[in-house]
Amino acid sequence: MSENMLTLRNLKVVFPNAKGMIRAVEGIDLDIKTGECVALVGESGCGKSVTSLAIMRLLNSPPAVMRVDSINLGGLEIKNLSEHKMQEIRGKEISIIFQDAMTALNPVMTIGKQIDEIYIRHSNMSKKQARINTIKSLDLVGVPEAKSRANNFPHQLSGGMRQRVLIALAFACMPKLIIADEPTTALDVTIQAQVLEVLKNMQKIHEVSALLITHDLSVVANMADTVYVMYAGKIVEKASVKDIFESPYHPYTEALSLSVPKLSDTKHSFVQIPDSVPHPMFKPTGCYFHPRCNYATEKCKERMPLLKKLENGREYRCFYPRNFEDKKGDHS
Ligand SMILES: Nc1ncnc2c1ncn2[C@@H]1O[C@H](COP(=O)(O)OP(=O)(O)OP(=O)(O)O)[C@@H](O)[C@H]1O
Ligand SMILES: [Mg+2]
Repeated sequence: MSENMLTLRNLKVVFPNAKGMIRAVEGIDLDIKTGECVALVGESGCGKSVTSLAIMRLLNSPPAVMRVDSINLGGLEIKNLSEHKMQEIRGKEISIIFQDAMTALNPVMTIGKQIDEIYIRHSNMSKKQARINTIKSLDLVGVPEAKSRANNFPHQLSGGMRQRVLIALAFACMPKLIIADEPTTALDVTIQAQVLEVLKNMQKIHEVSALLITHDLSVVANMADTVYVMYAGKIVEKASVKDIFESPYHPYTEALSLSVPKLSDTKHSFVQIPDSVPHPMFKPTGCYFHPRCNYATEKCKERMPLLKKLENGREYRCFYPRNFEDKKGDHS
């Protein structure tokens, strides 16, 4: 894991409307190294999907207004590429796995044919060779009796199986980057774990870089190498998955990690974060998290802390970081 596969710099997205501006994303940077799985975590409405759509250049404008200094994919600057060029890149260099397989799959085409098409389009294979690869790929993601299942239509499969098909589809062209936006949210908990395991194995076997988007921190524990925590359109912390769980700096990260139920917990004994994310048109002054933060002072109500970037790669946006060795340090 050395060079970056994705470098995103200063992404800003607003949705203007008659009453003002929805500031969905407020200047975020993301780095994903080759073969690395990076998770983007945060509660509903904090800007995760808008960020992923912006990277794919899939935001509709209008209504979205996007500004970005750089979206560099494996050395290629894609921020100003034409839609025609982007269509070549999507599905070949970047693929996305959405939450809802039923809308992502074509309902009137067999799943086999949908995967065949990717091989035919991107790798110039014959129909026969494509089908051989399709069956292999379905097998790899754990679809039983792949050969006959390939002739099924999406509605003939269970939700978990459909999600496996989406994973097979996303990997079919061997992209440089996979974006998975809440890939298992719609599934039962046990099926969720199986599908995540498949996704993780595929990502590691093929050494593809991945951006895993989720509001559920427990999902990232087994999957991600690095975690970015987003709150109300801003990154508030970046750290390795181990540090996120063992020594979170930001009170929001700490609260998120405390809200993850542990096996030893009795039902509902985990902590819930009070209140909710601010409405994007009415964000508070100062640190956006201060109304929900147990440690907030006057300073936090008045000023937004800068995102501090440490030499070891950790980043945090807080005047009073938790679990921080040097409590007297300058956290402005
Ligand atoms: N097309 C749109 N028009 C106006 N506002 C939008 C549009 N798309 C997103 N937003 C707003 O941008 C903000 C960020 O939305 P986004 O979908 O990125 O959240 P999210 O973090 O993915 O949440 P979730 O976990 O619920 O998927 C929200 O306040 C949302 O209402
Ligand atoms: Mg979303």
